[in-house]
Formats: sequence, C-alpha cells, structure tokens
Amino acid sequence: MTKSSQPIFPYPPKKVEGYPTYLPDQVQPVGSLLDANVYKQNQDPPKLFEPLTIRGVEFPNRAWVAPMCQYSSDEGKATDHHLVHLGSMAMRGWGSIMVEATAVVPEGRITPEDMGIWEDAQIEPLKRVVDYVHGLRGIIGIQLAHAGRKASNPAPWTLRQAIEEKGYDGGDVVGEENGGWPNNVQAPSAISFNPGKYANPVEITTEYIENLKKAYVAAVERCKKIGFDFIEIHGAHGYLLHEFVSPLSNTRKDSYGGSLDNRIRLPLELAQLVREKWNKPLFYRVSATDWLEEDLGPEKGKNGEWAWWGIEQTTYLTQKLADLGLDLIDVSSGGNDLRGNIKVGPSYQLPFAEHIKQNVSNILVGSVGIITEPVQANDILEEGKADIVFLARQVLRDIDFPLRAALELGAAVSPAVQYERAWTRMLVKRDHVKKAAHHHGVDEVQGEEGKKTKPKRDAPPEVHTSVP
Ligand SMILES: Cc1cc2nc3c(=O)[nH]c(=O)nc-3n(C[C@H](O)[C@H](O)[C@H](O)COP(=O)(O)O)c2cc1C
Repeated sequence: MTKSSQPIFPYPPKKVEGYPTYLPDQVQPVGSLLDANVYKQNQDPPKLFEPLTIRGVEFPNRAWVAPMCQYSSDEGKATDHHLVHLGSMAMRGWGSIMVEATAVVPEGRITPEDMGIWEDAQIEPLKRVVDYVHGLRGIIGIQLAHAGRKASNPAPWTLRQAIEEKGYDGGDVVGEENGGWPNNVQAPSAISFNPGKYANPVEITTEYIENLKKAYVAAVERCKKIGFDFIEIHGAHGYLLHEFVSPLSNTRKDSYGGSLDNRIRLPLELAQLVREKWNKPLFYRVSATDWLEEDLGPEKGKNGEWAWWGIEQTTYLTQKLADLGLDLIDVSSGGNDLRGNIKVGPSYQLPFAEHIKQNVSNILVGSVGIITEPVQANDILEEGKADIVFLARQVLRDIDFPLRAALELGAAVSPAVQYERAWTRMLVKRDHVKKAAHHHGVDEVQGEEGKKTKPKRDAPPEVHTSVP
C-alpha cells in the first residue's frame, strides 16, 4: 500500500450488523449526552438528559413518548405508517418510544384499526418497527390494552368529519357490517359509558377473566419474540382495567367487585402474571382520578364508602403494584365518566404524580399531560416531582423536542448521524453550565447559536378532547 492510499479515517462507516438493509450505526444513542470532557457544558447536565437504567435497560434521557393510538393498523398488524411514525421518533432522540394501546384480544380494540397482539401474525410487522428503532440504538416498548366498554368505536376523524360535514348526531358504535363487534363489548358491569352513543356492554364472566389472563400471558410471549424493551399495562382512561377499579363502572357482586381490594384484584392479578413472565421494565398507566369531586363530593363519602375513583385509591393501588415489582407508574387521569370536570392546563396531572411520589417510595413515577416546554419538563424532574416525563401531542407537533430541549437547556446531546448538519449549533463546545442555570429558565442558559435566551415558561392553553 502506498503512503497516499493509507486510510486516514476508519472506512466504511460502521453499520448495524444483521439489519436487512444498509443502516449506519449511530455511534451513541440519539438524544444521549455527549462526552462531558469534550462538551464541558455537560458536566452538570439538566435532569431531563440524565440517563435512567431500569432492569438493565438504559434509557438515554427522560423525555419519553407517551402511547398514541394511530388507528392505522391492518387487522391489528403494524403497517408502514408505524415504521415511519415511530421510526422518526427514534431519529429525534426521545428517551423512550411506546407503541400505542395494543389489544390483547380482538374485542379489546377501541376501533377496528387499532394495533393488536392477539395472534402470531402480528409479531413480524411489529418486529420490523422494533428492529429499526433498535438499529438506531433507540428504546421501544408497548402498551398492552383492553378497551372494555369503550370498544367498537370509529377512528375519531371519521366521526368528526361526519359531525362537521354532515351534521351527524348518532351513536359512536361501529356495526358488524363495518368490522365492529357491538354485541361483544365486554365490561365489568353492563353499564354503557355513554348510553345511546356507546355500546351496551355485556358483563364479563369469570371464564372471560381466566381467558383474558391467558391472553395477557400470550401477548407477553409475543413481546419477547418481537424484542420490546419494556411493557406498559394500560390501566387508565376508562378502558377495561380502569372500569374494574372504579366503583362507578364496576358494580359486580363477585370477588372482582365491591370493596377496593376486590375492584383492584384484576389489575393486580394481571400485573403479577406479566411480572412473572417478563423480566424487563414493566410499567402501569393509571388514571389517578375521575375528577368527580365537584359532582359527587369527596372520593370517600361520609358513610366510609368510596364514591368514585380518585388519588387515595390510586396511591393504594400503586403501592400494591410497586410491591409486585412493577418499575414505573405512568400517572394520567380521567376517561371513565363524562361528568368529570377536568382542570386542564400546563402540567395539570403533575400533582397526582407528585402525590404518588411522596407516598410510594419503591416505584418510579412518570408524569404526562400538557408538558410542552423544555424548562417546564426539566423543572418537574429537578424539583423531584416525577422521575420521567411523557409527552404526547407535543411529539406530533414538535418531533425534534429532545434536541431542541437540549439546546434550550444548554446541554449537548447526540443528533442522528445523518442529521448532524442540521444540529451543528448543538455540537459547539461550550463552557461548564451550572445546574441551576438549567432550572427555572435562568437567563445564562446559552441557547441556539450561543445567544443568551430566556426559555419560555408557560405552555399556551390546550383545548381538551377525550384521549385514549
Ligand atoms: C393521538 C393520540 C392518541 C392517544 N392514544 C393513547 C393510547 O394509545 N394510550 C394511552 O394511554 N393514551 C393515549 N393518548 C393519551 C396520551 O398518551 C397522553 O396521555 C395525553 O395526550 C396527554 O398528554 P399530552 O398533553 O402530552 O398530549 C393519546 C393521545 C393522543 C393525542
């Protein structure tokens, strides 16, 4: 080899071995802190960019994507849409990505187009997505779900279009002729979520409960084959497990209804079964309140009976989940009662997360709900109110949020190698930034192109619509 032909840098670029198409290696996870010896601004990094390891899985930062239904599956199977939708997030440095509510049985879908994991044919399309995210060194999990009495609904935009364009005023139920299952909508008790609009559910039998447990276990086995990094059990938003825990939707007379211990029995049994079969991180999403104080008085009435589902019972449930070895509680709210008077605003569900964090020590806590600004997200963590933050709608509006947040908070994180040229200002080596400077939007945080910037504090008001 002549001197001039000596390679001066390693070539070709390292690629992801075993990936079916050419895929360059990211060198380090997108969205992870760059070496603090080189990027001195990272010596005292903002908490949002502190990595978190749970059961050996390293999440590169604490800005996580919340689960979001896409109503874009084909007989429960992931499609190209999911590859692009979730793959784009992996290119943008989110600390964790979660596949939307995924039904463990077909009648547990919200809509006919929901994601499913009830049969083996659903493994391969999801594995394609997971392999791609892993190829980018991303972390990806799945939310296992059963929609309970809110099943057999249409994709929301179809209803909105019908209402807006045609003045539609009928029910929200998809009939059998369109792939729905209105006569097989299952719930703890035969109480409709919205009589005349939603399906009239049938009361779940004990046999159904036993089959459901098997379905969760089978789903976990599929998750292993797919290679997910974590599982979240969906226990929120008025779907099956929330319906079981709330005295308003569960009037059963057997061991799954009545007392608080009976109402939380099914979630705990399922959580325990999943925990036994799954040794990677396991989360549970809870609705911390039905927001009914104004309508029904205190969560626990004067007669000592629980009147509706609220934070006291949620904290009790969380303690039990923590004792079973669950790793994280994802604290949402609402969805089980139309009367609920939800006080919507920036970080509006944070007080519930904070309450749990103060009262249950052996579980990590995630907060979700109108967290849209870097300083807002970081303050939640720096103040110890939660351990991680989940974002949903902001992900859809601002997919680069993690990288933008790093810039705004004065940290340097790794952009995707293919996108480095768009983030050259991230790759400027700066001076040490004191931790306090990331906090409360102190002026000395250096932002884009090194300019001093005062981060925005409050998110604009959000119009609240019911969420899955
Ligand atoms: C399009 C869309 C789909 C959603 N799907 C789910 C879901 O599958 N599972 C779930 O638990 N929450 C779902 N949610 C709720 C979000 O995860 C999140 O809790 C909620 O939107 C509040 O967070 P945000 O203010 O950051 O959007 C969905 C929200 C949106 C906007």
